[in-house]
Amino acid sequence: MKRRDFLTTSAIAGVSGSFLRGAAPAVARAADESPNSKVRFACIGVGGKGDSDTNDAGKHGEIVALCDIDEKTLDKMAAKYPNAKKYFDYRKMLEELGDKIDAVTVSTPDHSHAVASAMAMRMGKHTFCQKPLTWSIEEARILRTLAAEKNLCTQMGNQGTADDGFREGVELLKAGALGPIKEIHVWTNRPIWPQGVKRPTDTPGIPNNVHWYEFLGPAHDRPYHGGYHPFNWRGWLDFGTGALGDMACHTINVAAMGLELFDAESVEVLDTSGIVDRETYPTWSIIKTQFGERNGRAPLSLTWYDGGDKLPEEKRAYKKLLHGEKSSGSGLLIVGEKGSFYSVNDYGAEHVLLPRDKYKEFKKPEATLPRSPGHFTEWVEAIKTKDPKKALSNFEYAGRLTETVLLGVVALKAGTKIEWDAKDMRAKNNSAADQYIRRDYRKGFSIHV
Ligand SMILES: NC(=O)c1ccc[n+]([C@@H]2O[C@H](COP(=O)([O-])OP(=O)(O)OC[C@H]3O[C@@H](n4cnc5c(N)ncnc54)[C@H](O)[C@@H]3O)[C@@H](O)[C@H]2O)c1
Repeated sequence: MKRRDFLTTSAIAGVSGSFLRGAAPAVARAADESPNSKVRFACIGVGGKGDSDTNDAGKHGEIVALCDIDEKTLDKMAAKYPNAKKYFDYRKMLEELGDKIDAVTVSTPDHSHAVASAMAMRMGKHTFCQKPLTWSIEEARILRTLAAEKNLCTQMGNQGTADDGFREGVELLKAGALGPIKEIHVWTNRPIWPQGVKRPTDTPGIPNNVHWYEFLGPAHDRPYHGGYHPFNWRGWLDFGTGALGDMACHTINVAAMGLELFDAESVEVLDTSGIVDRETYPTWSIIKTQFGERNGRAPLSLTWYDGGDKLPEEKRAYKKLLHGEKSSGSGLLIVGEKGSFYSVNDYGAEHVLLPRDKYKEFKKPEATLPRSPGHFTEWVEAIKTKDPKKALSNFEYAGRLTETVLLGVVALKAGTKIEWDAKDMRAKNNSAADQYIRRDYRKGFSIHV
């Protein structure tokens, strides 16, 4: 296939965005077609999970550019891909590269997902972005809308979606094997990073290798501290989305896809150790989301428990529902009128039906979902065949899943029950929650154009 055939979306989409005014529009160009119709990638955030995302890109195409705010990390990856141009600011990278790339990977901390992805998508770039898709609900809605408007191939990094076991689980839930479902319980051993702590008061100098202004991106200004970068940004309200944001796009994924856990009616924090100083997410929390009738499915509740060992034992209501099965550190339990679905695999890739005796003779429903060649491969195939639906965790799905997940984060931050109006993206009972549904952006890093 000619590169022009599978990459026409880049051409149609054109370029928009204030930071790009005056830049050359991305148009179909035969002259710089790269050899072998390889997808040309730019990778944003190349350490941590970005290390494997970048290497996945390298296996599937050509790495044209690498971007990381940490020069040590950037140089390490650049040694592997010596032909790639290096950047520490993704805005500059995208502006300069224009039509020299077809696709981006975004593996930065959560607060930068949407700004980097939206800029690339407005330029018509196919986008792979880590989970949760975004930091705020509004951002998830915008990325989902952009993907549809520009007909881009997208995939969120909840890789369990590609497992055969995951797809079997979705098929089984869709087929109604458990009867009407009333409640779901999900628990996790996260956070395994600091939460429930105060902001550090010491102000060490910014290391020479770290571009702190670019790390902050859309977030409020604050002095550099080693307690944020790398990895531990997760626990901080302004950067991360806490244990819920970190894990739920994996752990509720099979239930969300199988049972349409979208556009909740309400969410409330049943109990929590509490947010500390408006700075860090709680040490532990229990959050209940209520879903109404969905295309003929019975209303149900989803109760989320985080905190690992720090969650008090007497608060683990799910333990009584396990039919004598061992309770694991993390798990998903879907309770139906006929039986239950129990997965101790964080990605929903394995499950057992309970009670075991009752389901001994159970026959799997017929496969209705295609089996995947791999999560990243599936996305690249979507690009090459111009079929965005081939990537199962495309932003149409992943955006809705992320909204469900982030609604719990809104309830935590707002401190009240949220009666949710999904269509208008607002808390019907608490206008003050609006500040947690969207964010103020630092100049130069807005998702709005
Ligand atoms: N799918 C999975 O199983 C999985 C596993 C781990 C992390 N993640 C996700 O991956 C993302 C990154 O998490 P992590 O654990 O790798 O974090 P990390 O802090 O270890 O790594 C993030 C990388 O991005 C770089 N970075 C930070 N801000 C940047 C910016 N503005 N521009 C360019 N580079 C920037 C950092 O220097 C670092 O190299 C998160 O969204 C996280 O939820 C997914």
